[in-house]
Amino acid sequence: MSKKSKFPPELDFIRAGRLPQKKSNESMEGKICVITGTTSGVGYQAAIRLAKAGAKIVMIVRNKEKAENLCAEIKTLSSYQPDYYIADFADLSQVKTATESILKNYPHIDVLINNAGVHMTRRKLTVDGHETAFAVNHLAAFLITSLLLKRMVESSPSRIIQVNSEGHRFKGLKIDDLNWEKRRYGGYRGYGASKTAQLMTVWELSDLLQNTGVTINAMHPGAVKSNIGTNNGKMYNFFSRFFIQPTLKNPVISGDAIYYLASSPEMNDVSGKFFNLTNEEIPAPHATNREIGKEIFQLSKKLVNLDNENVYEV
Ligand SMILES: NC(=O)c1ccc[n+]([C@@H]2O[C@H](COP(=O)([O-])OP(=O)(O)OC[C@H]3O[C@@H](n4cnc5c(N)ncnc54)[C@H](OP(=O)(O)O)[C@@H]3O)[C@@H](O)[C@H]2O)c1
Repeated sequence: MSKKSKFPPELDFIRAGRLPQKKSNESMEGKICVITGTTSGVGYQAAIRLAKAGAKIVMIVRNKEKAENLCAEIKTLSSYQPDYYIADFADLSQVKTATESILKNYPHIDVLINNAGVHMTRRKLTVDGHETAFAVNHLAAFLITSLLLKRMVESSPSRIIQVNSEGHRFKGLKIDDLNWEKRRYGGYRGYGASKTAQLMTVWELSDLLQNTGVTINAMHPGAVKSNIGTNNGKMYNFFSRFFIQPTLKNPVISGDAIYYLASSPEMNDVSGKFFNLTNEEIPAPHATNREIGKEIFQLSKKLVNLDNENVYEV
């Protein structure tokens, strides 16, 4: 799929970023799509696009009021009643409870899109004692994916999409210091660590899901306008408003790309890949280290308390 690039893997985003976007016009009629973080930005656009294509949207979000507003909007676009489940991803017990409710209520799931994410400029630990970006961007998504794995297999053909980021290129993942106790925390590297961990587990899950009819891929949703980073205070927001936001694109492109990855027949058998919007891209070499990837996979199982569960026997 990926053509020979004149760029080294570190810079493959330049090649992939110049390619035209692929399109889909597949119906998603009645398909159950579980999406996290639909209350703004990328996730909002993905939910709207998939609802317009006929999907039933099941959201996991933290804000009830925003969820109600989005449900009202989706009802004007789709004949399927959207549903939402509340969970703060900085609290893994809430993520587990919401996912277990989804398992109880949906015997069939066609698409899982792990999108919710955060960028922190300061180190802050969650109630579970994890660095927040790592917990929200990686561990929560890992927990949801793991708990839904068997259901995705029972529902196959089905697809899992991890909304990742070119930010994985910032590096930052140190297996013996996931909580930044031995190093000074940096927002970009903290973000990079979480996205690298997520990518590494995509390769592992893709292998695990081989021959099950379930695909798992990761994508960068573009550099688009959203609320990301707005939790970081006035200075950040001032800088972002004048220097970052004007350079960003409309997040409609992210929704369109996620819809393509979720629906296109061209993606039927594609798994274990990283996409820049709709185009396959070579991830940064540090994120393809399978040895560390296996370690991070085992560690993630432990950190979400699933190391003794049989959820991975698919
Ligand atoms: N925007 C970009 O240019 C860009 C580039 C690369 C990757 N991404 C990735 O795209 C994904 C979506 O980000 P975005 O840019 O659309 O940002 P956003 O507008 O801030 O949306 C993030 C979503 O995640 C939810 N969320 C954040 N923290 C949460 C928590 N603790 N518990 C539950 N939900 C939480 C937010 O909920 P609330 O509405 O309640 O805050 C919101 O729905 C992220 O994974 C991000 O890393 C974005």
